[in-house]
Amino acid sequence: MKAQKRTCLAIVLAAGEGKRMRSARPKVLHELAGRSLLAHVLTAVAAAGAERVALVVAPGHEAVVKEAKALAPDVEIFVQSPALGTAHAVLAAKAAIAGGYDDILVAFADTPLVRPETFARLRTGLESPGRAVAALGFLASDPRGYGRLIQEGETLVAIREDRDLRDGEADIFFCNAGLMAIAGATALPLLESIDRANAQGEYYLTDIVAAARRRQLSAVAIDAPEEEVLGINDRLQLAAAEAVLQTRLKAAAMRNGVTFVDPSRVTLSYDTQFGRDVLVEPDVFFGPGVTIGDGVTIRAFSHLVGAAVGPRSIIGPFARLRPGASLAEEVHIGNFVEVKASTLGPGVKANHLAYIGDASIGAKTNVGAGVITCNYDGFAKFRTDVGEGVFIGVNSALVAPVKIGDGAYIGTGSVITQDVAPDALALARSRQVEKPSWAKDFRAKHQKT
Ligand code: UD1
Ligand code: MG
Repeated sequence: MKAQKRTCLAIVLAAGEGKRMRSARPKVLHELAGRSLLAHVLTAVAAAGAERVALVVAPGHEAVVKEAKALAPDVEIFVQSPALGTAHAVLAAKAAIAGGYDDILVAFADTPLVRPETFARLRTGLESPGRAVAALGFLASDPRGYGRLIQEGETLVAIREDRDLRDGEADIFFCNAGLMAIAGATALPLLESIDRANAQGEYYLTDIVAAARRRQLSAVAIDAPEEEVLGINDRLQLAAAEAVLQTRLKAAAMRNGVTFVDPSRVTLSYDTQFGRDVLVEPDVFFGPGVTIGDGVTIRAFSHLVGAAVGPRSIIGPFARLRPGASLAEEVHIGNFVEVKASTLGPGVKANHLAYIGDASIGAKTNVGAGVITCNYDGFAKFRTDVGEGVFIGVNSALVAPVKIGDGAYIGTGSVITQDVAPDALALARSRQVEKPSWAKDFRAKHQKT
């Protein structure tokens, strides 16, 4: 018979003040690899099997609520006011806890690098009979400031906050990451038995371990690497966490067949997708929403956000692909070329100094140096439609809305304001005038004076 799947509620605590960020933005909305700390945590608890998510926020943090709902529409919001400690914060979600779950995962929204597998391991810590709590621990390089995990053999007997340490406990290096899995059946009475008799006068979630012991229930510590439980309180820790995440993302990409000439000089987003045999030169930035096909080369100093690049294309150096840039195979985008909200067919070339915005460009069309789609009149945006096999001469301005038929030629330096028929030549510039020996006469006149 197959074991019944254990149900899981995740409670994500985000009611902290985050003053040390020195920011107008709530701490958990600061970003790592292109998305908020909160989004990282909500994604990880969902991936660890939480079917219900409760988010505990401070009053007035509407932006936090909005971000959470955008990612997980059925997240339940609980407001903790005032903030009286981590156990008090968990109890703010009492109505959710009362819903009767096997496992309750407690996560901190400012601890964004915990992997779903680690949350899942915490849950398995609850599978022994009489087990009430599994706490996540790590071996700290510097334990000061953290709660310490006090063990007797394999059993976790207490978690003591740094300020409440007793004799001999200061040199314990096994520390509390803060995250826990709590057995749902006994969670409420245990949480409600916690008092605030400690140095900070707060309701400590960590006291749940001693509370469980008093009721003949047991607790266990599950360990994780220190870098995974890095908590973010200031911008230095934000940068440290970013570095850890970047290393992870690039390692995964390289394992899947991407070459970074210098991995330390490329920035990825949480969702950057690469095909095989992609080559990325140094100083390339990938913002969110980028997909790169097989065999693509991205040359140095390119900036890509929300763009899809087809197989065997060559991008850069110094190229900018903005949201909605959708490139088919074998497209060449060269230096100082910007593409936004445009579809480029197979084999399109725009190798130098161009702006392509709100356009569609057919297969094999050549966009000359300095070509600009004039898509904006100061109020609205307009589209440019260019057919296949078109040749757009250098320094031409395509004033949208405008259509250029397949196979047409646009003479260099043209300002195109009307549609061009297929296979036609369009010239929209003044004719050259030549005045024989004008320059010589001009010089002679000036040399006299
Ligand atoms: C907590 C742990 C400590 C652990 C450390 C790891 C407790 C009592 N202590 O301490 O053992 O070593 O994390 O970083 O749990 N929060 C609320 N409401 C509150 C208080 C906190 O929502 O009233 C949230 C915060 O936003 C934060 C999390 O809970 O996300 C942790 O709170 P924090 O004050 O940072 O706890 P620490 O003192 O760091
Ligand atoms: Mg903290």
